[in-house]
Amino acid sequence: MSAPSPFTAHNGFTLPEQGLGTFGFRGEAGADAVRGGIETGYRLIDSAFNYENEGAVGWGISGAAVDRGELIVTSKLAGRHHRREKALDAIEESRFRLGLEAIDLFLIHWPLPGQDHYVEAWQALIEARDRGLVRQIGVSNFLPEHLERVEEATGVRPVVNQIELHPRFPQEDALAYHREQGIITEAWSPLGRAGEILEDPVVTAAAQSHGITPAQAVLAWHAARGVVAIPKAASAEHQALNLAAAQVRLADDEVDAITALGSPDGRLWGADPATHEEF
Ligand SMILES: NC(=O)c1ccc[n+]([C@@H]2O[C@H](COP(=O)([O-])OP(=O)(O)OC[C@H]3O[C@@H](n4cnc5c(N)ncnc54)[C@H](OP(=O)(O)O)[C@@H]3O)[C@@H](O)[C@H]2O)c1
Repeated sequence: MSAPSPFTAHNGFTLPEQGLGTFGFRGEAGADAVRGGIETGYRLIDSAFNYENEGAVGWGISGAAVDRGELIVTSKLAGRHHRREKALDAIEESRFRLGLEAIDLFLIHWPLPGQDHYVEAWQALIEARDRGLVRQIGVSNFLPEHLERVEEATGVRPVVNQIELHPRFPQEDALAYHREQGIITEAWSPLGRAGEILEDPVVTAAAQSHGITPAQAVLAWHAARGVVAIPKAASAEHQALNLAAAQVRLADDEVDAITALGSPDGRLWGADPATHEEF
């Protein structure tokens, strides 16, 4: 029997290797970037209530010449909506803003353990799923202890955990844990926000040896590790380059060398889920 794909969750739900991030996409230009991304080949779109762009994302989706059924549209529950009533109202709002009957994948954005309402939020997501408002439910920025607690309380395991993951913060322990649990790992800021990592000699050497760009090398590294990357790319050129990275297979030693660029303090802006609060 072949090993389960890292892009398939414990319940059989499957994601493509790459999705389109949309943080910062707003208004007409944002909608155009989403529509263009879908027409270039993206089938997984990442959004959130807190990005204040569900309207632009929904508009982009409705204008794209692709069957709605092919798309997996994601949104996320904001920290200020963790209590049951607020969560259910916010999910309805997200649905209306996106213009969708049901949101394909809905995540709790951050656990905010200091507030300690994430179990109630998870119960609300289960209710929303049972009512058909959302199809699949998962989380973002959850540590293993948070994942264990929501499952213990409800018997329902998230299908996805979307976490900060890039070569400066490769999240080896979280990846191994998710793999064991059948939870798909999605990487946010997968390109390190196109910062200095794209100039690192290890990354540029891998890129050179395959005749690709540094960003494509980083995306090939994610795919090799079984991680769904959701790079944000506004331009048609970047979107096409990023999708083309799916054709690239890095050698094991190249993957290991990029993973070795990580460090425990490699987070981009220090947002530790154990303490970070985002409402
Ligand atoms: N769950 C969470 O807490 C959380 C937190 C942060 C982000 N996210 C999600 O993750 C998504 C991605 O993260 P991010 O936007 O922070 O950072 P990112 O995807 O790592 O980097 C985005 C930057 O990379 C550039 N870029 C894209 N493709 C490129 C290419 N081929 N070559 C060179 N530069 C390229 C983009 O420029 P152009 O736009 O000009 O192409 C943009 O400046 C977000 O959009 C959001 O959906 C989730």
